[in-house]
Amino acid sequence: MPAPEIVERPVTAAISDRPPFGAMAHLTHDQLVEAQQGTLASPRRRASLSAKALFNTMDLLYGKERTLAKFRVLELIARVPYQAWENVAYVAMTHKASEPNFARRIFDKVRVSRFEQDNEQWHLLILEELVHAQPGRLGFVRHRIVPQIIAFAYYQLSWLMYAVRPSWSYRLNADFEDHAEHEYALLVEENPAWEHEAYDGSFADDYGRCDSLADLFRQIGYDERLHKLESEANMTLKRFS
Ligand SMILES: [Fe+2]
Ligand SMILES: [Fe+2]
Repeated sequence: MPAPEIVERPVTAAISDRPPFGAMAHLTHDQLVEAQQGTLASPRRRASLSAKALFNTMDLLYGKERTLAKFRVLELIARVPYQAWENVAYVAMTHKASEPNFARRIFDKVRVSRFEQDNEQWHLLILEELVHAQPGRLGFVRHRIVPQIIAFAYYQLSWLMYAVRPSWSYRLNADFEDHAEHEYALLVEENPAWEHEAYDGSFADDYGRCDSLADLFRQIGYDERLHKLESEANMTLKRFS
């Protein structure tokens, strides 16, 4: 049999028919409502000092009110721990490639981090588009430059914590995801009109379609819960186990 023809940009071609990671797990409308009610009824985690400092900074810079612009900043920051964990795991792989079982476990961590990162990326892109469609312009420094500075600092902190003691970084992330889960549940509750508003944005097919804007945010909130549960479970485990 002849070898397959090599096309231009063969890696791009090889992945073109593989769907991207979307939502963590697609729920029906009823399941999403139940999940949101469960979140609203559940107590928040007792946040660590570093998490509290982050939430207070966000409130100071973007107000206590739940606005889409504030959630956009939240999502910009939310991806970076997963980027940091992927990076630390790859560095560890450099040193541990000679130990097949351990290297396999490290690679599994890399894959989970990528999945979580991609999931948060859709949240960001969806929010970015929704914010862009709103009237008025956001301040360039407050909404473009400052979030990037916060994300950079949060990346460094997550990287360092994960390299020194992964449970520290997992705990900070669990606090962050718990905060996001509750904030999305409240956001939906505060905007009943969204039950009847369709969502048909550019990323609907990538992320997965939802019945309404309300369900879209319930679905994102449910993703945040799963991120939190993953981090909470990892807090108790040994590095790369
Ligand atoms: Fe998110
Ligand atoms: Fe998140």
